[in-house]
Amino acid sequence: MDLFKVYKLWDIEPVRGLGTTLWDKDGNEYTDLYGGHAVISVGHSHPHYVKMVSEQLARLGFYSNAVQNSLQKDLAARLGKISGYDDYSLFLCNSGAEANENAMKAASFHTGRARMLAFDKAFHGRTSGAVAVTDNPKIRSPFNSCENVTYVPLNDIEAVEKELSSGLYAGVIIEGIQGIAGIYVPDDGFMRELRRLCTKYGTLLILDEIQSGYGRIGKFFAHQFSGIRADIVTTAKGMANGFPIGGVIISPDIRPEYGMLGTTFGGNHLACTAALAVLDIMENEHLIENAEKTGEFFRSAFHPDGKPDPALSEYRGKGLMIGLQIRPEFSGLRDRLLFEEHFFTGAAGPSVIRLLPSLTISIDTASAFMDSWHRLTKQ
Ligand SMILES: Cc1ncc(COP(=O)(O)O)c(C=O)c1O
Repeated sequence: MDLFKVYKLWDIEPVRGLGTTLWDKDGNEYTDLYGGHAVISVGHSHPHYVKMVSEQLARLGFYSNAVQNSLQKDLAARLGKISGYDDYSLFLCNSGAEANENAMKAASFHTGRARMLAFDKAFHGRTSGAVAVTDNPKIRSPFNSCENVTYVPLNDIEAVEKELSSGLYAGVIIEGIQGIAGIYVPDDGFMRELRRLCTKYGTLLILDEIQSGYGRIGKFFAHQFSGIRADIVTTAKGMANGFPIGGVIISPDIRPEYGMLGTTFGGNHLACTAALAVLDIMENEHLIENAEKTGEFFRSAFHPDGKPDPALSEYRGKGLMIGLQIRPEFSGLRDRLLFEEHFFTGAAGPSVIRLLPSLTISIDTASAFMDSWHRLTKQ
């Protein structure tokens, strides 16, 4: 059997990683500023992570959600404390799309309403409900109907109010920072007004922090820059450093009922242990502060003389969620960074390079990237 070919693959196969370094099967070394798509939050093969996950596997890898699991309770308590959402509760699942599915389902059960408001260029995942609120018709099949969804432009509060005032919306779903769209940060004032309108019209505010959250931007969640609280927050990616997990953080106003949400694998022993190891490392190594500091380093390095670097038309993002809008004459730069300079980076379409490195990245590694960047872009 061959693989179902849905990805464009680079002809590179990493077989080993340590921190922000990867080695391919021929022993070539690379630096990872992509983090496997914002997933590797505490670096590859961190010794504490490896120890905790291996020891848990040797003890008990999995049992079902029909029994007590104190690892889930520990994770909820730790996550509540570090995120500032300790009065909320946690539902564990396996991925980002699944977290969003469950968040929207909970909002719909709670309000008894069917509609969702989403934003132009949004990405919330590829499963049926998540793709219905994703503004990309190319990845939505005829089966993934979005008849209950309306899209409005980001930062357009009048368009939001026009819809919410109908009283038909269960929820508004919004990314803390739009990632796949090319790194677009919603205005703080818009987020505060959005919060006010959701409360006014009895609609739940769902913050998708799957890419923008978990310390990457120098706070635990990106929406916390605007000082608001969401009714539901979804998280995944960096949560367990590559072990599949998703989390739905749910307001105490939403009462759980039997049958509302459920899962076989979600919150299993290995996933929870991996997530607890991530939180240990994040706290012990002050990684949220490091994300802020290295993020500031990149911002200044890409703004020599206060203006964007000559190869850029714009620098967007916060902390270590960075979108580099490349000038047309530098197209192909991402491939050159990989094949000539051995730096993995992400992309959003052909003209945006995304930097989503591990939160452990050092200033030395960031400087080495800037040296490569300058080598390739000097004219
Ligand atoms: C903002 C956002 N939401 C949801 C998802 C979907 O997550 P997953 O691929 O784990 O289903 C992604 C993945 O890139 C994302 O960036």
